[in-house]
Amino acid sequence: MKQKSSFLCSECGYESAKWYGKCPSCGAWNTMEEFREAKQTAPRGTLAKSDRRRNKPLQIDAIETQEEVRLHTGISELDRVLGGGAVKGSFVLVGGEPGIGKSTLLLQMCQEMCRQAKVLYVSGEESLRQIRLRADRLHISSPELFVLAETDLEEMIEETDLLQPDVLIVDSIQTVYKSDLSSAPGNTTQIKECAMTLMQYAKRRGVTIFIVGHVNKEGTLAGPKILEHMVDCVLYFEGEKQISFRCLRAAKNRFGSTNEIGVFEMSDCGLIEVPNPSAAMLSGHPMDASGNCIACTIEGSRPILAEIQALVTKTAYGTPRRMSAGVDYNRMVLLLAILEKRVGLYLSASDAYINVIGGMRLDEPAIDLPIALAVASSYRDQPLPEGVMAFGEVGLTGELRAVTAAAQRIHEAIRLGFSTCIMPQQDIGRMKIPEGFHIIQTRNIAQAIGAAFGAKQ
Ligand code: TYD
Ligand code: MG
Repeated sequence: MKQKSSFLCSECGYESAKWYGKCPSCGAWNTMEEFREAKQTAPRGTLAKSDRRRNKPLQIDAIETQEEVRLHTGISELDRVLGGGAVKGSFVLVGGEPGIGKSTLLLQMCQEMCRQAKVLYVSGEESLRQIRLRADRLHISSPELFVLAETDLEEMIEETDLLQPDVLIVDSIQTVYKSDLSSAPGNTTQIKECAMTLMQYAKRRGVTIFIVGHVNKEGTLAGPKILEHMVDCVLYFEGEKQISFRCLRAAKNRFGSTNEIGVFEMSDCGLIEVPNPSAAMLSGHPMDASGNCIACTIEGSRPILAEIQALVTKTAYGTPRRMSAGVDYNRMVLLLAILEKRVGLYLSASDAYINVIGGMRLDEPAIDLPIALAVASSYRDQPLPEGVMAFGEVGLTGELRAVTAAAQRIHEAIRLGFSTCIMPQQDIGRMKIPEGFHIIQTRNIAQAIGAAFGAKQ
């Protein structure tokens, strides 16, 4: 039988019958790769025709539901991001840059999982000896933990069939291949076909499968959309390699919320959970330096305090430079324009740099006000008084707009010993405010800046 071939964009997954230099869907250049569909005869390890059952339409009320069976990973930050543990038979993708700690996280997870289930860790990247050395370093050992070094998907599935584990970890999807496909491992075709086979396996056998996917330079998984469609859960492990904090984020979760994050710190003996990220983020916060402001952002159900730094300097020549790390670039440019127009800060002749300490990425409107205050502080070269934190969205006319979960943010500020909170005029419900804690509600950004620099020490 003639094999059907088509072209797939490795960036957005766009499929077409002919090749393009530029993807018609996402506009990326040189991303169309040839994709050959596997032969129709079911190869080893895939769903044989006799295995398939014909599905009949059912009334929605007639469908029986049971609470999903969840396996606890023993890492509460990971459990929370998964929505309360890994669901039996689910297919989870853990993405992140090489070296960020994906293999370490999954191996650490095995320790607790082995108490409840049989686990098979398949590595295509490291030798058995290397895995053993890492496990020793992480103090992991269990008779229920099996390790296999294999990259041929069919062999891997045969071994899995023999061992019958409850959890299968494949590290990484870029190294596995199906021998009946001509393309090289890591190619879009291979990744798509291998992931599809593993997904069918997870659903058919009720095995929970974790796959590791490396993220390329642009920050997307290689062959990104293709994998994201298929899996139940996409977790991204983010952070700067030089900074020890790591953030685990759910980009998709069929069994829980996508807002939760887990915070970890990489240490000599593996990843350590950070149950109190605010305190960790604020450690080392300079007290009397200009250009700092503490923001409170809500990640999932948790408020987290983070330090935003700004540096405003006179432009030496040409167009002013703007740079942002941890906050959206366009949002920063917009705030600089608002500060210029509504507050009169002459920023069009200044370079401006914004950075969030600890490698965190904040993308919530409530960080507008702290960014503006940090910029104003650097512009005036005047530190904000000690104990001040802020949150609030800034509108184009310079007005401050209400944000969600204000009470929770104030609560976190109180808990961490702050004394003043600058925020928009909004209802905060009935809250017990301790003596000595000031809430300053302001209408617009100019008032907020006035209040911040005039706040009592
Ligand atoms: P790894 O889990 O191999 O990354 P990935 O699978 O995402 O490519 O983590 C690699 C980094 O973590 C490596 O640079 C060393 C560091 N590390 C520690 O600092 N402490 C440890 O205990 C371990 C196991 C790794
Ligand atoms: Mg690895």
